[in-house]
Amino acid sequence: MITKNTVTKSFDLQVFKQAKNPVELSFEQNEILKIKKEKNAVILCHNYQIEPIQQVADYIGDSLGLARQASETNADIIVFCGVHFMAETAKILNPEKKVLLPDLDAGCSLSDSCPATQLSTYKAQNPETYVVAYVNCSAEVKALSDVICTSGNAVQIVEKAPKDKEILFVPDQNLGQWVMNQTDRKMKLWPGSCYAHVLFTKESIERCRLEYPEAPVVAHPECIESVRDSADEVCSTEKMVSFCKQNSSNTFIILTETGMMHRLTRELPDKSFIAGPTGNCACNDCRFMKMNTIPKLLNCLKDEQPEIFMDSKVLEKAKLPIERMLDWS
Ligand code: 13P
Ligand code: SF4
Repeated sequence: MITKNTVTKSFDLQVFKQAKNPVELSFEQNEILKIKKEKNAVILCHNYQIEPIQQVADYIGDSLGLARQASETNADIIVFCGVHFMAETAKILNPEKKVLLPDLDAGCSLSDSCPATQLSTYKAQNPETYVVAYVNCSAEVKALSDVICTSGNAVQIVEKAPKDKEILFVPDQNLGQWVMNQTDRKMKLWPGSCYAHVLFTKESIERCRLEYPEAPVVAHPECIESVRDSADEVCSTEKMVSFCKQNSSNTFIILTETGMMHRLTRELPDKSFIAGPTGNCACNDCRFMKMNTIPKLLNCLKDEQPEIFMDSKVLEKAKLPIERMLDWS
């Protein structure tokens, strides 16, 4: 238990609040808006992207919202400002469209923790297993799965899975464990995790509560169990927005990637958000999400690359479990 006396403050907590004056867009941001219109392109942006990218996006949301937007868009080009598995999901849902990702190296440690070859071996040894895959996985892993879920609909999806089958949940053990507690459904969990979310600890929360005792703590389900247990609310990034909107408090402690604070302050300009600290830093940036920058986005729109290309057989196979998810939620 941390007390005021035992806290060693090597850094101050980071408080996010909307700036009073409206932001002026830069020359490069205006160029992006112009080219986007000329080429009938749409910019889909995850909540963790840097603020200047969020400012020029057509849609900002969580993985579920972005997948839905990707399945409904009329644009000729989809520029995905997020990480590789998200752009792949957009391509799977729109094989005939050009899908671009400003930096092809924007990966995901969670996705990497479940190689398709290992899952394939597991399935060969356990042929009756029903595989529920968190969307943070490669297209090859999706192609081996029965249904996909996101943090926004994981509980709903697992509740709909056949009752007579053993479920293997891949790749996030933390989300899987949280879903098990919510549903009372036993599952086998793949031992993967998000390198960024596991950096939050119970002490991260205690430190914030000392300074902001009235502020509700909202955590992403990718956080470890002791963090989820100490939080007031555990939810996807999209649900964080609705939770903070509906809750009467003015200040919230948010345990997820720092980019989320931009979305929250823009949508809730009268409220303040404390970024959950890790053991040695006041912020918690995902190094992959932060690979996309405004110059890379501008070049990507101008040159129409880097583009997402996929094996057509993998794409066909991966489409089924994604469509099942969209049907079920
Ligand atoms: P959300 O779907 O909740 O936005 O989460 C995506 C993600 O990558 C979390 O690390
Ligand atoms: Fe992957 Fe974690 Fe980054 Fe999300 S925050 S994209 S799960 S590494």
